[in-house]
Amino acid sequence: MCGIVGMVGENLKLEDLVISLQKLEYRGYDSAGIAYLGDNFGVYKKKGRIDVLRNGLKQKLNDRFFVGIAHTRWATHGEPNDINAHPHMDCKEEIAVVHNGIIENYREIREFLEQRGHIFSSETDTEVIAHLVEEEFEGDLLDAVLKAVKKLKGAYAIAVVHKSVPDTIVAARKGSPLVAGIGNGVGILASDVTPLLRFTKDVVFLEDGDVMVLRKDGFEVYNTDGVKQQRKIYHVDWDEKAAEKGGYKYFMYKEIMEDPQALVNALVGRVKNDRPFFEELEYYEELLKGADRIRVVSCGTSYYAGLVFKYFLENHTDIDVEIEVSSEFRYKRPHIKEGDILIAISQSGETADTLESVRLAKKHGAKIVSIVNVVGSTLDRESDVTLFMNAGPEIGVAATKTYVAELAVLYLLGLKIMEINGYWDREAEDILDKLVRMPELLENVLRKDPQIRELSEKYKNYRNFMYIGRGYSYPTALEGALKLKEITYIHATAYQAGELKHGPIALLDVDFPVFAVMPDDSLFFKTKSNVIESKSRNAPVIVLGTEGNRSLEEITGDIIHVPPTHESLYPLMMAPVVQLFAYHIADLKGLDPDKPRNLAKSVTVE
Ligand code: M6R
Repeated sequence: MCGIVGMVGENLKLEDLVISLQKLEYRGYDSAGIAYLGDNFGVYKKKGRIDVLRNGLKQKLNDRFFVGIAHTRWATHGEPNDINAHPHMDCKEEIAVVHNGIIENYREIREFLEQRGHIFSSETDTEVIAHLVEEEFEGDLLDAVLKAVKKLKGAYAIAVVHKSVPDTIVAARKGSPLVAGIGNGVGILASDVTPLLRFTKDVVFLEDGDVMVLRKDGFEVYNTDGVKQQRKIYHVDWDEKAAEKGGYKYFMYKEIMEDPQALVNALVGRVKNDRPFFEELEYYEELLKGADRIRVVSCGTSYYAGLVFKYFLENHTDIDVEIEVSSEFRYKRPHIKEGDILIAISQSGETADTLESVRLAKKHGAKIVSIVNVVGSTLDRESDVTLFMNAGPEIGVAATKTYVAELAVLYLLGLKIMEINGYWDREAEDILDKLVRMPELLENVLRKDPQIRELSEKYKNYRNFMYIGRGYSYPTALEGALKLKEITYIHATAYQAGELKHGPIALLDVDFPVFAVMPDDSLFFKTKSNVIESKSRNAPVIVLGTEGNRSLEEITGDIIHVPPTHESLYPLMMAPVVQLFAYHIADLKGLDPDKPRNLAKSVTVE
């Protein structure tokens, strides 16, 4: 996720462009840049937060411009540095482009353009857009952009300016948001409405496939064939503060609502010809071939994602997956030999224990495959190969959309390992198919939000919770309990359902509810009997189960249903439910879920 802005008008100062960009800082903050046409055509971009950009521009903030674009970056292709920062330019430095999204086929396009003599300066996928527009430009910017976007695969929101066109921005959208409006002599577009509100509250949301020509006093929208489209104007009655969170009260809530998009972003470009595909693994396939054991290290929510991977790979192959919490792994004899694969999972890529585990494993000859959200983080740099989550920045301390993204990457990796090692079969095909269709189903799960809030209201005053699940549902139970603990401060414990009668059942009574994770899978009846045992101890029961299973009603009236899927994919399908349940309890108790006490977003010390 990145933030883009475009402004065109009279009497605009660079300060206006920077202020507008700052409203989008939550969308990315590893580098920022602007391109503008005033007395000259200038581009200025810098690694770091927007304040670094602002400082660098200090002498110029009062300079006037007619047309300008700006970008705040959350790196996906190429580490965060001055060169990879947007805007990107063509060879003649006449065209500048900002982009939010991922261009799937950028390698093919880049090769084609290099053969035609284009010189690239960055490692980004975005730069191909600037060169493509250059290739197509024959004096009409709209025409060139229309031709260029036809060649792009993936997700994008782009804004393009040309040195010889002082009164127009051409923008396009497919899969990444873009909204535009006209204020008093100012045309403005952005990734969300926040920057627009200083100028207007009447806005138009671009749709997939739209290409827009924006001027200071109006705009036209076309489809990719150049046919004019009508778009509705919406009146947005938000204040600027609320808009930063997309109208949501907390970032955590917004980020849960982004679960489906995070899943899409993690999958983009990673399925080819109905098979899992990781460009990044090109040179490592040999290592994954014939592996009889894979080690995994991670912490917290990332550890639970790793646990799902263990169940997945062990259920579908003869490969052993040994997973360990990083803070334990780093202090044990590592049992690693030359050429072993160690998978390290970390949203931040800065978790101290995970980094130390990786360093230890490397010393013993392991190859490190990491799954990371933050491009350029220490873990990314120290790994042999990094598979990025592409979830965009997560501001809330609780991991939510990044858990979804971690799971997506791990399922794909599991399927890839199956394929490489001769385990590919009809079932693998079915899982991949269901994974690719999952974003839409996650939207359905999110529609249960009002019902989940009602349940949260009913249960918010209990002081203890027991989460249970078997097999794939055990990590979901662990994740549900962790979410509840960290943002509501309610004590919650998680057990494999079969372990209940080995001790924990003694805790249960009318004041100790059970949250049972029990989809329609091969272990359903086993879990059901554990839940019935809990009920006989008078424990209130919440069930998270599968739509259409009427037998859940025999257990409790407090049921949250999710759509059916392959049994291995339920952790993904159910993640938003446990996240929302914890979120609503925190909110109803008046707690700030974005900043839970005693916790930091990344744990960079032991
Ligand atoms: O950045 P990481 O994925 O390495 O972080 C690991 C844990 O610190 C993190 O998942 C933590 O447990 C979250 N606050 C859970 O919501």
